[in-house]
Amino acid sequence: MNAFHYQQDQLYCEEIALADIARDVGTPFYVYSESDLRARAQAYVTAVGSDDGKTPTLICYAVKANSNPAIIRRLGAAGLGADVTSGGELFLALHADIAPSKIIFSGVGKTAAEIHAALDANIRAIHVESEMELEALAAIAAQRGQTAAIGVRVNPNISVETHPYISTGLHAHKFGVTPDRAMTMLHQAAIHPHLRPVSLAAHIGSQITAVPPFAQSAQFLVDMAQELAAAGIRLDYLDVGGGLGINYAAQDAPTIQEWAAAVAAPIRAAGYGLVMEPGRSLVGPVGALVTAVTYTKQQGDKTFVITDAGMSDLLRPTLYNAYHPIWPVQASDAAPVTVDVVGPICETGDWLARERPLPPLQPGNYLAILQAGAYGYAMSSNYNGRLRPPELLVHNNEYHLIRPRQQYEHLLM
Ligand code: LLP
Repeated sequence: MNAFHYQQDQLYCEEIALADIARDVGTPFYVYSESDLRARAQAYVTAVGSDDGKTPTLICYAVKANSNPAIIRRLGAAGLGADVTSGGELFLALHADIAPSKIIFSGVGKTAAEIHAALDANIRAIHVESEMELEALAAIAAQRGQTAAIGVRVNPNISVETHPYISTGLHAHKFGVTPDRAMTMLHQAAIHPHLRPVSLAAHIGSQITAVPPFAQSAQFLVDMAQELAAAGIRLDYLDVGGGLGINYAAQDAPTIQEWAAAVAAPIRAAGYGLVMEPGRSLVGPVGALVTAVTYTKQQGDKTFVITDAGMSDLLRPTLYNAYHPIWPVQASDAAPVTVDVVGPICETGDWLARERPLPPLQPGNYLAILQAGAYGYAMSSNYNGRLRPPELLVHNNEYHLIRPRQQYEHLLM
């Protein structure tokens, strides 16, 4: 699983030189490796085993990480389901032929229209995150004469080391409900004629590079489920959410196997079905954003490399101070220079890398920003009248356009 590699001094994705693609389609563009995507999906499927028909075992891809229809379709074909967080993502998952029984709907603010759409599609479960939402769902299910399968997202108050914007499992966060409230909600659902409690879910954050908080969260879910079972409410599955980190700067992320084993063990031992919602760890490492240098300039004691990609294409550095590896598409032995790689957008925060050693660069040179398959294109925008870049999927020595570059007309819609 490492599609991006050098052959002689040229950076390749699988068997295609990125410089060749850049000459064909122009820059910037996102490029993904189909082989790596399949391998990562397979790693999950192998790690958790398959459904035995009684206790569900589901890897629900968190569509928010990369919602390109071709990516969702390929993950679906590999056996994965989907974790969706809006009516739009539900539409995309169904469009990619993911079976409704493999779709779960998470999120703190589902609207009545989104609840109707989920009930229309008859998805596996809607995971609710507040009492008001449970009431709204119950009323809609009753009005439709349907029984809605529900999960409750509990906030286990587990602290994790990650960027504060993507840590979600503390009581100070908007997500989920406290354990006592989750219990009350599940008890209420159990006696409601139009609700069926099937799950407890947690998601403690994203880009987490330690296994113990996940194991702790899984055990926490098991303990709560056992308490419910003692009261006669038997849940179908426990959902540990997503959150496994990838290797952006340090090589310290646990493997898919390590994460899956740690969360599956307590849940399986207690006889519950297992649902996981990975996003980043499936698609992050399989993608890169390729950009060209437009100009360089010296200012104060800085050297700026100005590229044709910016924060409208990849927001993570600006928003989270995130580090992404940047590799020159044409490698060089020349002594590196320390530069800031910045975009063309009218914001001081429009940077892709700061104080980064790179070989001396000239206009027209290409750079690949790696580990960009998750929350890259997905968080792109038209800010500053910029067109969203195309997305390409490489398979062996071929590439396919899986989303074209926007045209100026898109700025009118
Ligand atoms: N399940 C739920 C309920 C979530 O909220 C998320 C991510 C996931 C699963 C998938 O988590 P993952 O496996 O990707 O860590 N834009 C940020 C990440 C935001 C994550 C939001 N929720 C970033 O670029 O780092």
